[in-house]
Amino acid sequence: MSETEPRTSAMEAPVVVASNRGPISYGRDERGRLVPRKGAGGLVTALSGVFFHDDATWVAAALSDEDVEIARGGRAVGAGPKQRVRFVDIPPDQFDLYYNEFANRVLWFVHHYMWDVPRTPVFGDQTRAAWEAYRGANRAFARELAKEAKRDPVYLIQDYHLTLVPRMLRELAPGARILHYSHTPFAGPQFLRILPTHIREEMIRGMAGADVLGFQSRAWVENFLLSARQVPDLHVDLRSGRVATEDHEAQVRAFPVAVNPHALREAAETPRAKEARREVDELRGDRKLILRVDRLEPSKNIMRGFLAYELFLKQHPDWRGKVTFLALLSPTREKLAEYQTYADECLSEAERINEEYGRKGWVPISVRIQEDFLYAVGAYGAYDALMVNAVFDGMNLVAMEGPLMNERHGALVLSTNAGAFRRIGRYALSTNPFDVQETADAILAGLEMPKDERQRRARGITRSVLAHTPETWLWNQLEGVDEVTRRAALTSRPPEAEERDLPRRAFDDEIGGDR
Ligand code: F6P
Repeated sequence: MSETEPRTSAMEAPVVVASNRGPISYGRDERGRLVPRKGAGGLVTALSGVFFHDDATWVAAALSDEDVEIARGGRAVGAGPKQRVRFVDIPPDQFDLYYNEFANRVLWFVHHYMWDVPRTPVFGDQTRAAWEAYRGANRAFARELAKEAKRDPVYLIQDYHLTLVPRMLRELAPGARILHYSHTPFAGPQFLRILPTHIREEMIRGMAGADVLGFQSRAWVENFLLSARQVPDLHVDLRSGRVATEDHEAQVRAFPVAVNPHALREAAETPRAKEARREVDELRGDRKLILRVDRLEPSKNIMRGFLAYELFLKQHPDWRGKVTFLALLSPTREKLAEYQTYADECLSEAERINEEYGRKGWVPISVRIQEDFLYAVGAYGAYDALMVNAVFDGMNLVAMEGPLMNERHGALVLSTNAGAFRRIGRYALSTNPFDVQETADAILAGLEMPKDERQRRARGITRSVLAHTPETWLWNQLEGVDEVTRRAALTSRPPEAEERDLPRRAFDDEIGGDR
């Protein structure tokens, strides 16, 4: 870009997305030809809209041998007329340390408060090795991304896997427009201090290298700002949500993700979803149905969900035999021992409850472990109560998808610690995810709620969910980048840190709605 030429708006600039898991990963068909397979996970679904963008490149880690082969050939693969995917080749041992040991076992655990603090974590030399691998992987991403810099794109860096990339990329391409988006919660400042100090500080400095830092909810924005305030050399303005170094300023904002109603409706029309619906209707019979749809993941709080249901059955014997609980759980991160143990514990708890309360013709809990999105969409139509009781969750798409597709005005039992609570919590039956009595009470309230009340709430959720789309989610972020770059062009130096003059009370209080 020449210095005199006005810069293209972020809305019109090429987009370069970076995430660990990409929109496609390659395998081979029976004839040995390369075939793309759609990447799994909420991030890919949320961002699939960028591929409607005129000019888009997606940079992701090579996850299969075929991806590695493509990466080593140094080429991008086409995903549309002007849409490409590039893979970053991270050697297997390094990938294991970066992804399993650091991103998942350290960062995912800290942001979801998943440690049993008197015992875990114990950070030692293995953590240092995992951290070095994480840094290396982030550097590899930054280098790959910098190759695109001459086209003056907007970089959309995704998630906790790539927290160091914004700063590393800025060092390689100083004028780059960079946004970092966290799909997860961001831990509160006290809990984040469990991380080794140098790691916590480098991670926050890394993120602060972006122009815009996006989170799912104001709660996570505020947690980030409070932690950034503890990092030497960073100046934080809590009120305006800015984090500045000597020569750079980042704007921190909430951009809650949205669901795509058209894609869901299309999915519901598939034979697989219809078959699932028939199966679930059969399972329910003339009973009420409680549904949960989750990854088999400790942060989803599956165990306490079962315990709350057991308490409900114990305290309300008249409901025994009149309700059934279907848990659709998709396997995830099976290499982590903690996940295996948690999965085993959840399953044996469900079995125990079934043995204790079940009787001929009635199984209280049915668990299906499968990665089957269409089955879940079919099941959404049939529930009377949907349980989303995550310990902590960035947003939680199920809480929004379920009510859109449900045909029975079912109630939503929703954790106050899910980002989605800020958007739709007032229409849900709220629950503190640790309080199984409160969750049991919410189950009862949901099942016994009068029809007009259920309708009012279900319509409220649908209205709120439909008011946002994946396209507006993306546009808002790009607009945010434009605002920041415009401001940066007007001021040659970052504004004075105002943080010490600001009243802190507002941020210690209960958090308000999303911006
Ligand atoms: O759901 C939160 C999330 O961080 C998504 O943004 C991302 O797709 C996923 O978790 C990562 O999961 P995995 O380890 O399976 O790639």
